Amino acid sequence: MLEDVRAYIDRLGIDGHRIGEDHDDDPVLIDPVGRAVDTWRENYPYDERLSREEYDEQKYLLQVELLKFQAWAKANGSQHVLVFEGRDAAGKGGTIKRFMEHLNPRYARVVALTKPNDREEGQWYFQRYVQHLPTAGEMALFDRSWYNRAVVERVMSFCSTHEYETFMRHVPYFEEMLVESGITLTKFWFSVTRSEQRTRFIIRQVDPVRQWKLSPMDLESLDKWDAYTEAKEAMIRRTDTDVVPWTTVKSNDKKRARINAMRHFLARFEYDGKDHEIVGQPDPLIVQRGIDAVG
Ligand code: ADP
Ligand code: AMP
Ligand code: MLT
Ligand code: MLT
Repeated sequence: MLEDVRAYIDRLGIDGHRIGEDHDDDPVLIDPVGRAVDTWRENYPYDERLSREEYDEQKYLLQVELLKFQAWAKANGSQHVLVFEGRDAAGKGGTIKRFMEHLNPRYARVVALTKPNDREEGQWYFQRYVQHLPTAGEMALFDRSWYNRAVVERVMSFCSTHEYETFMRHVPYFEEMLVESGITLTKFWFSVTRSEQRTRFIIRQVDPVRQWKLSPMDLESLDKWDAYTEAKEAMIRRTDTDVVPWTTVKSNDKKRARINAMRHFLARFEYDGKDHEIVGQPDPLIVQRGIDAVG
């Protein structure tokens, strides 16, 4: 493992890189000659990242709306599931953190499961996720989800082709069951480009407080970009339904991604006291229906 990490560092060529400013979990990587690495520009629809001022203001106002949403959900006993998917370092965890920041944790939970243990391996695939579904008035935010089988497990061969195919056939029924039982389900795919993912891996390697995020899986995914793309596209084509569509969020600019994910979620609901002007609609250059994004 240690050797893997060394070989990996060699390949990334991180020597001489350092972290520049890091405001609010959004660090800048500085290359050996002192330039800010700006891989976020790759295929990105804006020339500038969202400014800190605008981000802080919008985030605060949307978090107030999330609290109104939570009060409404508590009062009417509704149940809400949010699924956060995406490649490694796409910004799932960072977005979840901003959703959760001011919510009452008694009624909002993050579900971030590790790999299945022996007991779980022997169960129905969906079983360990079902245990974490919300009760009345709750929100459950899944940092990765049952979709592991469609992407990570598929690409890394942690499941057989038969298990994969069975999953892909079952998932629309599973989700329809949840929705017909009154649970709302919102599925996000956070989309990061290849060179920006690499930059974020370097940041993880260079920054001591982020090293825990760099997993052996991340190292492997460096070589498996195309396999991940294929798995993601198949997943969206087969599991984007009118009942439960996928929503893709361009995440090279983390701040825009977080704001727009909140907006997309809130725009779906007519909760008490909603400020329509603040919620509005997500930016169509950043947020797309999954099936439209993969074609
Ligand atoms: P993360 O990016 O969520 O911090 P990793 O990159 O280490 O974590 O792993 C990605 C996902 O793959 C996790 O959900 C993890 O539980 C899953 N995973 C890792 N190893 C296995 C395995 N052997 N079988 C099934 N799933 C696995
Ligand atoms: P993904 O994480 O799979 O959603 O992909 C992230 C981003 O990679 C996409 O939003 C595209 O901007 C970019 N991308 C994917 N495939 C290509 C490609 N073939 N050429 C250029 N950019 C691509
Ligand atoms: C972070 O948010 O932790 C850093 O930007 C790097 C990463 O994505 O891990
Ligand atoms: C990821 O997307 O890999 C993690 O959630 C960490 C992050 O927020 O970048």
